[in-house]
Amino acid sequence: MIPPITQLTLGTQFLTLHWADGVQQECYYLWLRDNAPEARDPRNGQRLIEAIDLPTDIHAQAATLNPAGQVEITWSHEQGHSCFAPAWLRGYAALPAPRSLRLWDATLPKPYPTASYPEIREKPTALHYWLAAVADYGFALLQHVPTTSQALLQVVDLFGYVRETNYGKYFDVKSVVNPNNLAYTGLALSPHTDNPYRDPTPTLQLLHCLQNAAEGGENTLVDGFLLAETLRNRAPEHFHLLTTQPVRFRFQDKESDLVAETPLIRLDTQGQVMAVRYNNRSQAPFHFVPALIPAYYAAYRAFGQMVNNPAYQLRFKLNPGDLFIVDNERILHGRTGFSSGGTRHLQGCYADRDGLYSKLRVTNHK
Ligand code: FE2
Repeated sequence: MIPPITQLTLGTQFLTLHWADGVQQECYYLWLRDNAPEARDPRNGQRLIEAIDLPTDIHAQAATLNPAGQVEITWSHEQGHSCFAPAWLRGYAALPAPRSLRLWDATLPKPYPTASYPEIREKPTALHYWLAAVADYGFALLQHVPTTSQALLQVVDLFGYVRETNYGKYFDVKSVVNPNNLAYTGLALSPHTDNPYRDPTPTLQLLHCLQNAAEGGENTLVDGFLLAETLRNRAPEHFHLLTTQPVRFRFQDKESDLVAETPLIRLDTQGQVMAVRYNNRSQAPFHFVPALIPAYYAAYRAFGQMVNNPAYQLRFKLNPGDLFIVDNERILHGRTGFSSGGTRHLQGCYADRDGLYSKLRVTNHK
């Protein structure tokens, strides 16, 4: 329940709202006029005016509370007035809350966030909870996906769009002769994020198991955000280097030469970790001033030791019909080696997080 506004105070630049629970909210006049309901198209909510077209000294000639508790403002420079709903105003009374994520390590209790494909296809609430798990934990599992080729593309259709790359709309992960990528061998792959050499990097990856009769071939997941926060606490000097020094990633084959440069850990303007890229196979040689190389290697090795430490890894075997989705800028994925005795066939594809978050909001409204 939103408390009512009990009083308004007109200042020279700000209108102060006094809420019944003691909160005082200062609203800049230009901001109010810029965001007045009549400044948006009622059919689609899109803005009709530009801030540059408003006089900078616009202010309220008068402001009153109407019987419905709304704030009515008569403007200094124009005819007419604006009317603001308390619920809308209250949404801006406090600054946005910091992001809250569930960071995890190997002690994350089972069952891991899991849903059933037929259920998320039929029920928007089930889809919502599955997508919310990806937002919170950075990954989720899905069971009962048909073991047919390209079924994973239909999973993506539930929340967004496939990101096509030089590997195609999807790719098969199984042993091949003369592979252009070590993923297509039976070798173990240490945890990594995919395609760090791409800009923008795909922000979601899905891997779907069609067959898994090989010995070994367990999947591993690591929460890169937890590693970054652990490094920030234990070794701030390492953390500083990994968040400020750009490094290069590269992938080359006959058709492609993809290069991207970024710090291994990217921070937002508030200092929160927003992206992690780590991929031993496509890491280009570090190319800094020589004096920086020893310190960078110390930081890189400290991070790499955590990546490969089982204490941070979830480990599970995908069965035919299982799929996992990861936030590819947060979660590292890998696998243990597997024998050539039985067939192991996975299909993977990429998608983008914006579609997933959009669907999450839409299913929340419903
Ligand atoms: Fe991968």
